[in-house]
Amino acid sequence: MRASGSRKSVSDPPVLATQLPLELLHRGKVRDVYAVDDEHLLLIASDRVSAFDVVLEEPIPRKGEVLTQLTAWWLHNLRRDLGISHHIVAVRADEVVGLYPALGATRPEWEGRATLVRRTTPIRAECVYRGYLAGSAWKEYEAHGTLAGERIQMGLQQCQRLDPPLFSPATKAEHGLHDENITFSRLVEMVGEELAEELRHRSHMIFRYGRDVAADSNLLLADTKFEFGHDAEGELLLIDEVLTPDSSRFWPKEVYRVGQKQPSLDKQPIRDFLEGIDGWDKTPPPPPLPPEVVQACSERYLEVFRRLTGIQLDDWTPPTFGALNR
Ligand SMILES: Nc1ncnc2c1ncn2[C@@H]1O[C@H](COP(=O)(O)OP(=O)(O)O)[C@@H](O)[C@H]1O
Ligand SMILES: [Mg+2]
Repeated sequence: MRASGSRKSVSDPPVLATQLPLELLHRGKVRDVYAVDDEHLLLIASDRVSAFDVVLEEPIPRKGEVLTQLTAWWLHNLRRDLGISHHIVAVRADEVVGLYPALGATRPEWEGRATLVRRTTPIRAECVYRGYLAGSAWKEYEAHGTLAGERIQMGLQQCQRLDPPLFSPATKAEHGLHDENITFSRLVEMVGEELAEELRHRSHMIFRYGRDVAADSNLLLADTKFEFGHDAEGELLLIDEVLTPDSSRFWPKEVYRVGQKQPSLDKQPIRDFLEGIDGWDKTPPPPPLPPEVVQACSERYLEVFRRLTGIQLDDWTPPTFGALNR
């Protein structure tokens, strides 16, 4: 059931980009980031989708909502179960408008996809945790026998389970460039030993929690990326999106096979379509997506939400954060 006073409906049009009367700080691959005041940001997850690192022309209906509400679900549970400090102040539209009445006028543009967060200075490294050998880690291992620059066990196959799971940080790439995997020593050089250890420790706790929850839904958490930042008081907070299909690889356990690529839960219809097009070199402009591919992808995002949380997105009401989160 939707919260009373909600004007959101399943037939709302998808959103490629927002135009709010606030200072736009950043338009990322998926999010529009606005400054609300010196200490708060409004993160708006659009329905933009990227594949092979190229942002496609078509929006995926309800994708932004799924990413926003799934992150809220995880962060609420991580705070409750592990005491993890994070950036969310409010997700419910009524609460956001209560705190910032001026946002009431544009509510239909952002409701369901906006998160009011504490503004931080992000750490310039992505905290990747890997439970399986996939993606850029598999490429590095295949070429050099290393992961994050360190030698690991020989003879591993593509998508093989890593035991124990491994922390493999990456630099945050500037616009349009690929992230670069770095060693733990490099992270220590960048942020100092104490903070590097803390990032690894928190990432490990959150990874393990996410892996166990996903396992209950017969999903394998292959790898995932966390971001952290310091708020105005110097507190280290978990920021950005968390354990979403855009920041993680979830694999359906029933079709997992070691030694090959695994299908993506959410973007596979898009990948299959694009891989089938001769002559596209995976640089912009991307080819247009047929409506049935867009629809299949939208359904898959909704299915990931339902599978992880056990709740249909339409039956979900986000929690209140304020009192709990400070
Ligand atoms: N609490 C926060 N404080 C400051 N920056 C944040 C916070 N949460 C998320 N961000 C930043 O907002 C941006 C989110 O936009 P996104 O579309 O995901 O960008 P990208 O294409 O860089 O992944 C990221 O650059 C992320 O670091
Ligand atoms: Mg991002």
